[in-house]
Amino acid sequence: MAVEVKEMPWVGRSVKRKEDDRFVRGGGNYLDDILLPNMLHMAILRSPFAHARIESIDTSAAEAVEGVVAVVTGELLAEHKLAWMPTLSGDTQAVLATDKVRFQGQEVACVVATDPYVAHDALELIDVEYEPLPVVVDPKKAVEDGAPIIRDDKEDQKDNRIYHWEAGDKESTDRAFSEADVVVELDTHYPRSHPAPLECCGCIADVNPATSKTMIYMTSQAPHAIRTVFALVTGLPEQNIQIISPDIGGGFGNKVPVYPGYVVATAASLLIGQPVKWIEDRTGNLASTGFARDFHMHGELALKQDGTMLGLRVGMLSDQGYAYADAQPSKFKAGLFHVVTGSYDMPAAHVVTDGAYTNKAPGGVAYRCSFRITEASFLIERLVQNAAYELGMEPVELRRRNFVRPEQFPYTSVTGFVYDSGEYAKALDVALEKSGYEQLRAEQERLRAEGRLLGIGVASFTEAVGAGPSRDYDILGIKMFDSAELRIHPTGKAILKLGVKSQGQGHETTFAQIVAGELGIPPEDVTVQEGDTDNTPYGLGTYASRSTPTGGAATAVVARKLRDKAKQIAAHTLEVSADDLEWEGDRFYVKGAPEQAATIQDIAFAAYTNHPQGMEAGLEGVTYYDPPNLTYPFGTYVVAVEVDAQTGEWKVRKVVAVDDCGVRINPMIVEGQIMGGLTEGFAMSAMQQITFDEDGNCMGSNFIDYLLPTAWETPTFELHATVTPSPHHPIGAKGVGESATVGSPAAFANAVVDALAHLGVRNIDMPLTSGKVWEAMQQARSS
Ligand code: CDP
Repeated sequence: MAVEVKEMPWVGRSVKRKEDDRFVRGGGNYLDDILLPNMLHMAILRSPFAHARIESIDTSAAEAVEGVVAVVTGELLAEHKLAWMPTLSGDTQAVLATDKVRFQGQEVACVVATDPYVAHDALELIDVEYEPLPVVVDPKKAVEDGAPIIRDDKEDQKDNRIYHWEAGDKESTDRAFSEADVVVELDTHYPRSHPAPLECCGCIADVNPATSKTMIYMTSQAPHAIRTVFALVTGLPEQNIQIISPDIGGGFGNKVPVYPGYVVATAASLLIGQPVKWIEDRTGNLASTGFARDFHMHGELALKQDGTMLGLRVGMLSDQGYAYADAQPSKFKAGLFHVVTGSYDMPAAHVVTDGAYTNKAPGGVAYRCSFRITEASFLIERLVQNAAYELGMEPVELRRRNFVRPEQFPYTSVTGFVYDSGEYAKALDVALEKSGYEQLRAEQERLRAEGRLLGIGVASFTEAVGAGPSRDYDILGIKMFDSAELRIHPTGKAILKLGVKSQGQGHETTFAQIVAGELGIPPEDVTVQEGDTDNTPYGLGTYASRSTPTGGAATAVVARKLRDKAKQIAAHTLEVSADDLEWEGDRFYVKGAPEQAATIQDIAFAAYTNHPQGMEAGLEGVTYYDPPNLTYPFGTYVVAVEVDAQTGEWKVRKVVAVDDCGVRINPMIVEGQIMGGLTEGFAMSAMQQITFDEDGNCMGSNFIDYLLPTAWETPTFELHATVTPSPHHPIGAKGVGESATVGSPAAFANAVVDALAHLGVRNIDMPLTSGKVWEAMQQARSS
């Protein structure tokens, strides 16, 4: 008799997102929805100066306002040793300024009041006397001799240099350059940008004076790690701190660090004995919390005349703001920037990176990228395109000639990364075919003859995501792994608790699909719980596309553990040897007698009612998963733009994106991630940057100056996939959350430069505004 196979391809199916029902009906539970009895409200006074000594702070007028409960200053915090706190890179950052302010928007004092409006109004009554100091906004000037010292609070800090970091090998790289036929150089700046999540940051701290329990509701992407940092900073016992991250309206890296508002609200609640809520406003978010990018990059690519890449030299200066606060593993001073060899089999590379303090907000968060890979990917893809012009080669052929080939995987890059898998030429071919690349090139020629400027940009990127392994990756020394706890209840319904924390990525659906794929319990019967430190296992959180490679793997592994136990229970209930059982979809059946079967629901019930004597009752387990390696999603993007020859304005004609994130658990969610990333990449190339004037005034602290693309500007994206499973992930999935943001800015920028390349234009710094494009055309025409 044929075995009745119940088809359950839960993995790979575009299951509708379970969480959207409550989101689209306004039923989400975001931080500002939470109201606690006796809750007070906190507002932050920020510095108008970028660099100034604080002469005095008079809080008396603010304290006298009816409804104001307390005014907190740095001096008060210093009495409790809380005026400074550690950053994610092990530097220090002021909670509230004591000696000096070091960027415009720095937190100077906080008002706690019975009403949020009273708190905000009272800020204006705080009288701060500042003595302005010389301001440094340019990192190149910051590292010159005689520049004003920004971190004079640190005894050993005699200049504005933070770190010097080298990767690769200088000698072999110099040798490669001496043998080169052609060397292409590029100087470019990846501008300061900001993740700008829809929901700003915030928290409610509720220290219960009776129980000493500290509850903190917080918009955190990494609640467990934040709890540990809080315990270490405040001295509160960790078991008495519970952090709950409720629904979060986007994070994109912005909600990984600890911000002063969290610490002050907690200190205020501790001192006052009432819950204190702090909701950040948009200007506070843009001006003071984790920015991204701001890398000044110099690249040199050495090639043979036939296009073979010989070596890469990179010099990079990172503008860190006044504190070194990058969200990144402590081993890598400039994040993973040294994956700058991209998808290419580069025989030699030498990467030198320096970090500088400036009078700007700290941050350097992994804004939809793994620790600075976005900048690296941009640099190499711009260099490769310029090399093609220099050699007179077709840019895609230059790429193809140098790709790491499928048979070379696992491939160890010259800077020490072990790429797990890749089929770069395949992704390129699909992108070329789907975009009609050949036809576009022919059209480009035709239009040029008419004086019209069509540009075609390609970017073939590789990302390194899913940190750990714990041997290499940590945040402030806490090793990067992740966890899953799965409990199957007697009725066969399950609850899955994770150490990661969704900010909109659809974890409640995809992780339930993994359980369904492993155990046959339908996704609707699996509740996914995240973000509550008392009720989920320890994990490092969600950022840098790590949830699927770590939390997703932990989920598959714990489900497999329970399946092993389920087999023993099934053997007991079916009265056969476990060796005689076969698993199929959602059940164990007896080999040769498939009608004798126990479904996962039967087995779950037996686990609590009829388990074998000597075996522990129940069907639950926990796994802490430490991945053996990062996963390496990749892809190729083709962008076609038309540049107006008179004004420099450019319009996107076509975007074709081919992504490979291995096995797609939920293709619909993956496509959503990619579209979001492409939109962000488009924004960076076209409009987004935060600039500062000479006095350090932030020119991007609101949505009039800091531009977000709306549906009106955002182009249409055509998405395609190749599937190269990760060999070491339990279900072959790689992360994908950030890939499009990493890969696409170079494709857009390459397209605009390509439209003007025949005029001799080789670089326009991002964002490629029409003004800059026009200027580049004028210069090219006049030279
Ligand atoms: O850490 P984060 O969730 O932001 O990133 P990710 O794990 O790379 O993936 C983003 C989302 O895409 C995940 O939450 C999954 O919902 C989905 N995904 C998938 O369905 N299949 C994959 N191979 C990778 C991600």
